[in-house]
Amino acid sequence: MKKISILGSTGSVGAQALDVLRGLPDYRVTALAAGRNIPLLLKQIAEFKPGLTAVSRAEDAAEVKKEFPDMAVYSGADGLSRAAVSEADIVLAAVVGTECLKPVIEAIKLRKNIALASKEILAAAGEIIIPLVEKYGVKLLPVDSEHSAIMQSCPPAVAPNGCFVYPLEQINKLILTASGGAFRGVPAAELPAKKAADALKHPNWAMGRKITIDSATLVNKGLEVIEARWLFGLPCERIEVLIHPQSIVHSLVEYRDGSVLAQLGMPDMRLPIQYALTYPERLPGCVPALDLLQVKNLSFSPPDFKNFRGLKLAYEAGQAGGTMPAVYNAANEAAVELFCQDRIKFTDIPFLIEQAMLSHRAVSAPGLEDILAADHWAKQFVQKEPKCPTVR
Ligand SMILES: NC(=O)c1ccc[n+]([C@@H]2O[C@H](COP(=O)([O-])OP(=O)(O)OC[C@H]3O[C@@H](n4cnc5c(N)ncnc54)[C@H](OP(=O)(O)O)[C@@H]3O)[C@@H](O)[C@H]2O)c1
Repeated sequence: MKKISILGSTGSVGAQALDVLRGLPDYRVTALAAGRNIPLLLKQIAEFKPGLTAVSRAEDAAEVKKEFPDMAVYSGADGLSRAAVSEADIVLAAVVGTECLKPVIEAIKLRKNIALASKEILAAAGEIIIPLVEKYGVKLLPVDSEHSAIMQSCPPAVAPNGCFVYPLEQINKLILTASGGAFRGVPAAELPAKKAADALKHPNWAMGRKITIDSATLVNKGLEVIEARWLFGLPCERIEVLIHPQSIVHSLVEYRDGSVLAQLGMPDMRLPIQYALTYPERLPGCVPALDLLQVKNLSFSPPDFKNFRGLKLAYEAGQAGGTMPAVYNAANEAAVELFCQDRIKFTDIPFLIEQAMLSHRAVSAPGLEDILAADHWAKQFVQKEPKCPTVR
């Protein structure tokens, strides 16, 4: 029996993970952590019967406790940490943003394997997380479909202490595919007028709000480039992005002999979620197999770095290193929030990220406090940014 704790159970990834777990009788959900969607959380508790639950607000914790008096219920940052360090063997990190950075670090120190959906924490703090993963011998299992595809296309060896070792000496480069999001092919002149409701119309994937906006700016792909840099140990210059509108080829690995290996599948997150939870086993599918005869076309093109500058800035942040990726990530989080409140234009998102990066002096070899300080500074900077004409 494998025990799983889910951080972000009420979100898109969390709910799909629970759907996967419905088909896995040898797995037990021991902890659920959510934010504010208490009606959905109550249903999940009734069905999966975890021993521990955490929510963002104390008043919500009281409501949950009233419904389930025998269950341990916590709130706030402490609650998220308790869910991460509870009795589980695997912690699924699926909280949006950097909220679960500290809880994941605490789980790693207790040698719990991490199924990682929360790409923001690796983008912001990979420099801290990866040495801990190696020190404590933890498996970092990618949930993002692109990183799952890379892992499947260059299967890692397992070091004596349990962590993954990728065959880097055989690899030329990694190729991450991107659907291009809601505004693929939209002329540059039309982008400033696009609203959050437009950006949320993703052509292929049904996902949470922030990642869908990030897909439209290509910042999502930028975060994934930095995430891949830490997961697989190759520098950003050897991680390429290709636009692939069909979202069938989930990513590719180019080997030094010229061979290219890829993983293909339906665009359904339950597939990479299940593989992360059941690794190294492949259990009967929760998703229909890909029918190649139904796939009429597989096309690839280079990304438009000029009109989607958020991707280019990710390479710059990744190359600068230190606290710069944390600033890139945090500035984006704050800018997306302003965009969703209709306080800035779509094209202001990369503008504000760039302004934050230009105003930040990166701290090299940062500690956790440096990362958290950079994250806090960048969010404040964007919220107050005077040069962006459309921020109130
Ligand atoms: N969705 C996808 O297909 C997909 C694919 C690859 C990677 N990812 C990554 O996975 C992560 C989650 O994405 P998502 O699309 O599932 O996001 P989402 O639908 O917005 O869900 C976010 C989850 O985080 C919870 N949450 C937010 N703040 C919290 C806090 N302070 N404490 C505890 N829980 C909190 C939310 O709770 P409430 O809803 O209850 O407030 C919700 O359960 C992101 O990092 C994203 O980039 C997502």
